[in-house]
Amino acid sequence: MAFVTEENLTDLAEKRWATAHSPRLAELMTALVRHLHAYAREVNLTEDEWAAAVGWLAATGRISDDKRQEFILASDVLGLSTLVVQLNNRFAPEATPATVLGPFHIDGSPDAPFGADMSDGIPGVPLFVTGRVLGPDGTPLPDVVLDVWQADADGAYEAQLPEVDEARLRAKYRTRADGTYCVRTIAPRGYAIPMDGPVGDLIGRTAISHFRPAHIHFLIDHPGHDRLITHLFQEGSDYLDSDVVFGTKDRLVVSFTGRPAGPTPDGGTLTGPWLHAEYDFVLNAAADRTRP
Ligand code: BEZ
Ligand code: FE
Repeated sequence: MAFVTEENLTDLAEKRWATAHSPRLAELMTALVRHLHAYAREVNLTEDEWAAAVGWLAATGRISDDKRQEFILASDVLGLSTLVVQLNNRFAPEATPATVLGPFHIDGSPDAPFGADMSDGIPGVPLFVTGRVLGPDGTPLPDVVLDVWQADADGAYEAQLPEVDEARLRAKYRTRADGTYCVRTIAPRGYAIPMDGPVGDLIGRTAISHFRPAHIHFLIDHPGHDRLITHLFQEGSDYLDSDVVFGTKDRLVVSFTGRPAGPTPDGGTLTGPWLHAEYDFVLNAAADRTRP
């Protein structure tokens, strides 16, 4: 091996990591070395700054556990999570766009019949989300499962409420024979990402807003189609143009239209006002997927 100089160091490190046994690992590691070195050279990284960065990474690891994923949050606020979603979900233009999964999805949500109320008495403004799930050619798809989860009217998710030990504001709905679905819930509120850890500390040293706009999450995994992980955002909600995790896309913003007391889309009646969001999800045919 050649002796090390400032000039040859990047080249030497890249060559060393190119020996990874798997070609993909070699590609990932050599590019990482190249970009890390370029970063340090560009900003002329000081030893104190290097130590602070290492300390920040260590603190991020210390605060993380199986419930709290501070590294994912870091990836989210840096825009990396959304970039990875984008690179891996290059759907046809007519398909519903994908966005970040986020940390609050819980497997095994209970099945809910058409129009069942997943808010189950939790206070809030009643909201119906209705529409169809369509194939790429516009054909309504029967028997498609929509896995739905959201924050409550205070912006809190089930996973953030240790006292809750049963499914809260999450359920799996299914389309009917004509492709229609009907979710009954309450209007969610926008919320702040956790600010009590190293990510919050960093954000607090910037002018970045630490909020997400009001939204509902959907996961639709139907055979023959790409899995769709997305949200619907409430039109007019605060933070639509400053979503801290870069998750908001214009085609996912929908009107939560105010409706008076009276008949509701589940065939029932409400004695007070309610909100109605209408949205057709269009799935991407698995064969249409374009990988880089
Ligand atoms: C969410 O939408 O649930 C979320 C996504 C990324 C970071 C924090 C929350
Ligand atoms: Fe969310």
